[in-house]
Amino acid sequence: MHPTADAMTDPWSGRALVVGAGGIGRALAKALPRIFPDLAVTLCGRTVAGSDGWSVDLESEQSLQQLQSRLLEDTLPLRLVINASGLLHRHQPTGQALQPEKRLNQVSPDALKASFSINAMAPLLLAQAIEPCLDRSLPFHFASLSARVGSIGDNRSGGWYAYRGAKAAQNMYLRCLSLEWSRRFPRATVLMLHPGTTDTALSKPFQSFVPPDKLFSPERAADQLVQVISGQGPAQSGAFLAWDGQSIPW
Ligand SMILES: NC(=O)c1ccc[n+]([C@@H]2O[C@H](COP(=O)([O-])OP(=O)(O)OC[C@H]3O[C@@H](n4cnc5c(N)ncnc54)[C@H](OP(=O)(O)O)[C@@H]3O)[C@@H](O)[C@H]2O)c1
Repeated sequence: MHPTADAMTDPWSGRALVVGAGGIGRALAKALPRIFPDLAVTLCGRTVAGSDGWSVDLESEQSLQQLQSRLLEDTLPLRLVINASGLLHRHQPTGQALQPEKRLNQVSPDALKASFSINAMAPLLLAQAIEPCLDRSLPFHFASLSARVGSIGDNRSGGWYAYRGAKAAQNMYLRCLSLEWSRRFPRATVLMLHPGTTDTALSKPFQSFVPPDKLFSPERAADQLVQVISGQGPAQSGAFLAWDGQSIPW
């Protein structure tokens, strides 16, 4: 990690959004104002509303449009957006369970599409929605939770086709975004982050393989992520980093 001027000498103040109100997202929304008291932190998610934060469904164009309108009316400058949404398993509306695949014959078009929609497309469409609200003259951080298993170079065990493939696609989308924004918003920093295995609903069914000292509480994961994000600046834009700031191979 090489902290830059934007990262270190300009503590965050203004608006921050945490989008995705799961285990890590909620912990991030609590950690940020504690660490940066001048930051107005808004939690956004499908089950969030009223005094808790803003209702946002990342898979709805209309909802992203409403988010943009709300931000354009905001009197605070937008300084930080963290995408903390994601999907690994769930019960599908069809009644079938979506589970990470162990082998090829478990792959299904429905699961591939569902995973791609939230794990790959949503972070890019979120960036598109907030772009008109950016002030070119101010530092801005856009960080999105990817996953180490989205690394192609680091893939030694296979499986988890839908999740791995979609996270790898997210990394490519956001790498492209970082290059575009380095020209159009030279003070912007785009990061893809692996939070480490964290005790949330997403990891619950798979925790038996994880030694207790390698399983982070959401609070610890959030503190670590904030430290990594705030330590990066435009020179690191486009990086894929783990919770300890180490670079992850593509
Ligand atoms: N936990 C881990 O060990 C781990 C490891 C590596 C990477 N990650 C990544 O870290 C991120 C956060 O995961 P987590 O552990 O906090 O999981 P989580 O508790 O399951 O949270 C994920 C959140 O994403 C939200 N989401 C899904 N679709 C959405 C949509 N269309 N619009 C808005 N929000 C939506 C879900 O909201 P609803 O509640 O409305 O469904 C859920 O709250 C994910 O990207 C995950 O892949 C986690």
